[in-house]
Amino acid sequence: MKDINILGIESSCDETAASVVRNGREILSNVIYSQIDIHTLYGGVVPEIASRKHIEKVDSVILKALKDADMTIDDIDGIAVTYGPGLVGPLLVGVSTTKAYAFGTNKPLLGVNHIEGHIAANYIEHKDLEPPFLCLVVSGGHTHLVRVQDYDSYEILGFTQDDAAGEAFDKVARAIGLGYPGGPKIDKVAKEGNPHAIEFPRAKVGGSVYDFSFSGVKSAVLNYLNAANMKGEEIVVADVAASFQQAVIDVLVGHTIECAKELKETRIAVAGGVASNSALRALFKEMGEKEGIEILTPSPILCTDNAAMIAARGYYEFINNRFAGLDLNAVPNLKIGTIAF
Ligand code: KG4
Ligand code: ZN
Repeated sequence: MKDINILGIESSCDETAASVVRNGREILSNVIYSQIDIHTLYGGVVPEIASRKHIEKVDSVILKALKDADMTIDDIDGIAVTYGPGLVGPLLVGVSTTKAYAFGTNKPLLGVNHIEGHIAANYIEHKDLEPPFLCLVVSGGHTHLVRVQDYDSYEILGFTQDDAAGEAFDKVARAIGLGYPGGPKIDKVAKEGNPHAIEFPRAKVGGSVYDFSFSGVKSAVLNYLNAANMKGEEIVVADVAASFQQAVIDVLVGHTIECAKELKETRIAVAGGVASNSALRALFKEMGEKEGIEILTPSPILCTDNAAMIAARGYYEFINNRFAGLDLNAVPNLKIGTIAF
């Protein structure tokens, strides 16, 4: 069978990325330009600045992805782009640029859902992985426990009732003075702290038993900091970070393992930026071994935003002949498993 080479483009938040992936599984190039340094100055992503930076970088990132893959655009079979969910301005840069490339080269245009892209990162890392499998998607904007029934079919078993896991990491990091980006900073500092120093709540929510809630643990951290300040007590940042992180990962891993046992699933894939958290990965490994459940995680660089996962997901759009028109638009609140073109 002829090889299918997909060029993927990602610009939904603060990474401008392009990648060439062969047959949905093999990375030929993976270029990521991160805007972290600029947004750090403001303590978080400033959408307007992110859009401008994407415009400045997107062309050179695409050309580098082709060059690194030792290809020209002629070798590409389809061009995939994240069209949602994400920040509207940043998304529009990727979508408009990709439409221009597709139009100018007469190549098929593929619209990719960013969350489905995160899940597809597992196909790159685990070459034999095929649905069905259970997947925990934990990113800055999303916390979903999903059963991937087929490449195009998802059953949502649980989701967050309020903050996403990554959002909680970012907010707590700001409160304890670690700044942006919160997740990796808490991950690092927590290594020096005691995860059992402070007992933060593990939220139970109404809805589905597999739903999540992280606003309670975030408020508990803020209350703890206020109370300590009022009493003039010393705050050990590493202990707060480690205890907060433990409360979050206990719930993420606990719910997911319970769900897998209930549904008699033998493997769990983890995806999204928070899946790069070292304590989360270690706890999943430990619990997976204990329960006889295989845990699949992409390498950290494929967990956080990248375009290889978009190209990998785009491959499945391509082989299903699901091509977007040049009227493809950014859809900031696009839901998993839905098509908006
Ligand atoms: O998937 P992602 O790169 O972008 C979105 O689609 O949102 O996820 C970004 C989120 C941020 O909230 C960031 O703080 C979190 O993932 N994150 C982490 C780690 N690395 C990134 N959270 C905890 N530990 C990490 N090592
Ligand atoms: Zn993401």
